[in-house]
Amino acid sequence: MAIRLIKTIDEMRELIEQAKSKERVIGLVPTMGALHEGHLSLIKMAKEMCHLVVVSVFVNPTQFGPNEDLDKYPRDLHEDCSKADSAGGTVVFAPEASEMYPDGFSTFVNVSGITEKMCGVSRPGHFQGVATVVSKLFNIVKPNYAYFGQKDAQQALVIEKFANDLNFDVKICVGYTVRDEDGLALSSRNQYLSDEERKAALVIPRSLNLAEDAVKNGEREIKKLKEMVVNEITKEKLAEIDYVEIYDCPSLEEIDEIKDIALLAVAVKVGTTRLIDNIVLEAN
Ligand code: PAJ
Repeated sequence: MAIRLIKTIDEMRELIEQAKSKERVIGLVPTMGALHEGHLSLIKMAKEMCHLVVVSVFVNPTQFGPNEDLDKYPRDLHEDCSKADSAGGTVVFAPEASEMYPDGFSTFVNVSGITEKMCGVSRPGHFQGVATVVSKLFNIVKPNYAYFGQKDAQQALVIEKFANDLNFDVKICVGYTVRDEDGLALSSRNQYLSDEERKAALVIPRSLNLAEDAVKNGEREIKKLKEMVVNEITKEKLAEIDYVEIYDCPSLEEIDEIKDIALLAVAVKVGTTRLIDNIVLEAN
């Protein structure tokens, strides 16, 4: 395996300093590991544009709520290194939680506005944890480009917002959602699903596609589109809706009708597993 594994901030900084002195273009792909083709698509995108691709693997405790899956989140660093290597990563940065959050850590990045809806409602504190850890990664790795998935659309918007508000000198690139052949968006949390739940979860892409087709056929009314998605998901007994929202994109402002581009985003619990997915609806 050619990929280098780095576990300390000092070692990471040293490597970055060397790369910067040689004017290397640096890409960062932040992840929580359990890498799948969705993550690998971002690493491949980074590889196309950058000399040095840092893949961070860090299950970030500050973005998990007290009753969430921090302890059972899948971890396999060896497998992650091998996958990151095969996709073209140069370095895996996998610090311990104590390296990122030593005793006495007390500074957080909080984005207001767009975090107060969708996942921000069902997961209080989540985006503060995400923005804080991604800020730290930006300061440690100093990337020219950082890569995020459209799969977590609200997260990508939050990151664009704080990077811009706080003048981080990094370009944010957003990659398309990678799906299994049957349409289910890839997610590290899909591992939690039983066979029966995996089948039930297909109601998510099915309901998004229904709305997409309706928009193609001329439907513009948000209320009707939401109803359509809610009705479809409700038919599936193993699925429980957390939210179904349609907002203007990228402002995430409330709209009654799609005029240009809107984001249809859903969070659905299948069994005990909470899954999110979204689709961009285009009026023209
Ligand atoms: P994680 O869920 O591991 O996702 C890492 C990156 O991969 C995110 O940018 C996410 O949007 C992207 N991704 C996940 N599934 C994808 C798919 N099916 N297709 C394309 N991209 C996909 O998101 C996080 O980790 C964390 O919140 C993090 C940003 C690393 C901060 O801790």
